[in-house]
Amino acid sequence: EVWNPNGKYRVISTKPMPGTRWINLLTQQDCRVEICTLTKTILSVEDIIALIGDKCDGVIGQLTEDWGETLFSALSKAGGTAFSNMAVGYNNVDVNAANKYGVAVGNTPGVLTETTAELAASLSVSAARRIVEADEFMRAGLYDGWLPHLFVGNLLKGQTVGVIGAGRIGSAYARMMIEGFKMNLIYYDLYQATRLEKFVTAYGQFLKANGEQPVTWKRASSMDEVLQQADVISLHPILDKTTYHLINKERLSKMKKEAILVNCSRGPVVDETALVEHLKQNPMFRVGLDVFEEEPYMKPGLADMKNAIVVPHIASASKWTREGMATLAALNVLGKIKGYPVWSDPNR
Ligand code: DGY
Repeated sequence: EVWNPNGKYRVISTKPMPGTRWINLLTQQDCRVEICTLTKTILSVEDIIALIGDKCDGVIGQLTEDWGETLFSALSKAGGTAFSNMAVGYNNVDVNAANKYGVAVGNTPGVLTETTAELAASLSVSAARRIVEADEFMRAGLYDGWLPHLFVGNLLKGQTVGVIGAGRIGSAYARMMIEGFKMNLIYYDLYQATRLEKFVTAYGQFLKANGEQPVTWKRASSMDEVLQQADVISLHPILDKTTYHLINKERLSKMKKEAILVNCSRGPVVDETALVEHLKQNPMFRVGLDVFEEEPYMKPGLADMKNAIVVPHIASASKWTREGMATLAALNVLGKIKGYPVWSDPNR
């Protein structure tokens, strides 16, 4: 699909993206926009090299693509100087290789913060109240009347939510769980997490001023403290060498037997094979997973676990957010091509 065929700059999007704002932004600034309409979901490096061709100024790509040495070298040979990942996470992008070939890299933070945090909150509540299991039970025609012990789950109010990685998304999630469900908070972050500290302090004062029961909060000095104390744990770190299999067999064994683990970050942050084993051994332990170690696949056994809720990497999938991500991705590429500062650059 081609927009503004006579545009001076050739910009490729490896996938159709929601909305038209991003297309208008580019075409109004003299870009010819080519949208790949190949029906396969995941494009290979060869597919993308063919798209880039001999002349390409910039590419908007997806998190399913492997943006390494080969692609950046091909893009640079075609005269390209800009690549934007339509995602906040950029573990699929070798930023050093991009730098080596003089290609600027952009990502799309901010516009997906609340949407992603909302899904993490939804998975937490759904796991606590066993909503998916109950839905399946109902549809299977098994409901034959109210019973005192039917799908009894956990009350979140007064329990402790644990957040690992208190950046933009982790902090928004924590706020939702504290304000919405009056949970206490314990969190662990390697970097400064002042935004969350400011919020919990102010919220504590608000509750006090209104004579309401305060919530407690604590910045943990180790991750183990979170694992041992929290009833619901949500993972929000970036994926890199240091966070690969951050949650492994040993760390799972430190969590409460009835804890809930939620992952809307990246699949490889959790050792999924160890997780399946843990779910088998601990039927009261529950998980809500948006991401998987080897997407689009799940490790054997996971699909059979009643104590797991699994959804297909949809944390940022709200209309507003996806259109925002597409717009930001286009602005990144445009910024580089036209010489404006790149809108969002993960190096910064
Ligand atoms: C991201 O942006 O990194 C999400 O995983 C997809 O929105």
